[in-house]
Amino acid sequence: MNPDEIFKNVVSHAKEYGFVFPSSEIYDGLGAVYDYGPYGSELKNNLRRYWWIAMTQLNENIVGIDAAIFMHPTTWKASGHVDAFSDPLIDNKDSKKRYRADVLLEDHLAKIQGKIDKEVEKAAKRFGESFDPEMYASTNPRVLGYREEIQKVEDRMKAALESGNLEDLQQLIVDCEIVCPVSGSRNWTEVRQFNLMFGTEMGATADGATTVYLRPETAQGIFVNFLNVQKTARMKIPFGIAQTGKAFRNEIVARQFIFRMREFEQMEMQFFVRPGTEMEWYQHWKEARMKWHLALGLGADKYKFHDHLKLAHYANAAADIEFKFPFGFKELEGIHSRTDFDLGKHEEFSGKKLRYFDPELNESYIPYVVETSIGLDRLFLAVLSTAYQVETLADGSTREVLKFPAPIAPVKVAVLPLVNKDGLPEKAREIFELLRFDVNAQIDSKESIGKRYRRQDAIGTPLCVTVDHDSLVDGMVTVRDRDTMEQERIPISELRGRVLAKVEMRNLFR
Ligand code: GAP
Repeated sequence: MNPDEIFKNVVSHAKEYGFVFPSSEIYDGLGAVYDYGPYGSELKNNLRRYWWIAMTQLNENIVGIDAAIFMHPTTWKASGHVDAFSDPLIDNKDSKKRYRADVLLEDHLAKIQGKIDKEVEKAAKRFGESFDPEMYASTNPRVLGYREEIQKVEDRMKAALESGNLEDLQQLIVDCEIVCPVSGSRNWTEVRQFNLMFGTEMGATADGATTVYLRPETAQGIFVNFLNVQKTARMKIPFGIAQTGKAFRNEIVARQFIFRMREFEQMEMQFFVRPGTEMEWYQHWKEARMKWHLALGLGADKYKFHDHLKLAHYANAAADIEFKFPFGFKELEGIHSRTDFDLGKHEEFSGKKLRYFDPELNESYIPYVVETSIGLDRLFLAVLSTAYQVETLADGSTREVLKFPAPIAPVKVAVLPLVNKDGLPEKAREIFELLRFDVNAQIDSKESIGKRYRRQDAIGTPLCVTVDHDSLVDGMVTVRDRDTMEQERIPISELRGRVLAKVEMRNLFR
């Protein structure tokens, strides 16, 4: 299966087995908004818990909070979101379709790159084994011409975006002869900045109402609570504040399932440090976060760092941890050294001091901040798309299986009476009652045992326990492993310990 097919299968599997549904589907859905079903919400809870334990429970100097989604509107003025959290948009007058100007230009550049790739491919076929693609690309006049064209467009686009010159951005689209993919025309409007925050009214009357925003990131709830937390939890620098919660962005180009959504969940941690030590902590958190990802066991080849060359105005270092999704390497998490920008701005706009008295230095200062920020939905997609596998078995049949790391699987164990009679369902229920207080367990007696195994494979249950007629006599059950499909007979008295050893979260932290 090629990556496109795998991705399509993952999306339909997610719906068919109760992981992810389009929002309000009976009304044909709502763009880039999704609901999590019974197994999806379990998986999401487990991933959130994996992050929360790693951040708070396992770091003595990090505490958690749960701030409100609504915040005082000045928060977003201070943070820069009101003025600068926007995308440059352009409309085609014929199709009435709206596009991100920078995305239209990037798609145009990708097309030119495609021409280069084709030239190199053709030459490779012509020259055979001795062919050196790099040498060819750096000497062939046609390829050099394409490369020059790309460079020119990139330079102009970067200059226009950085200086906010929207007229030149529009002129660049015209000069590149970019056509609307729907109407095929070049009949473009001017480019306008479009703020990505969702606004709404708070208050009873139209006159007295205030515009408030649905938060576009959870981080600001941490910044404005910096002193509350530092004082009440008696934290000493360096220390961190962690939070998980919903964030909202009116994304214009929202595609790729739950990768880019308009309502999504972030897991963010702001680490407050002494000014001048931020680069050490930035390195520390880059390494610590990568280690956390690798511990999930999805494969080291799935991750890479992407260091930002162009930094946001408030950052002095930034990197993404990228994950190999079915549609290529894309950002999963960001690690940012945000200096004292946010606390400094909130101090300026609120008129309240947001400083820390450092007893070792005997002075007060605005701490510097290193942030780690990961999208829970993107993590979910990374895990789901890697776990999804279609296997051909020895008898030639196929099975769809979700090979989740056992501690984050939605259902940990299924108890299955071999037949639905002869006292087996009663014995199975006894065993189910033994397990359900520790882990999310299922009991299932419908259809053949083979079909029940397949169903548990399809939702990623690591262990199935089969109760047969012998179990009533010898007190033993058969435990089937999802990945190897091997079966082992063990005493019921050992079952609880066996299940817990397989699925406990601490396995990931070892
Ligand atoms: N506080 C920093 C911040 O919000 P960001 O790079 O804009 O930084 C952090 O977002 C993470 O949130 C991203 O790495 C991504 O995982 C997730 N994220 C951002 N926008 C998203 C969207 N529209 N849908 C799903 N996840 C998103």
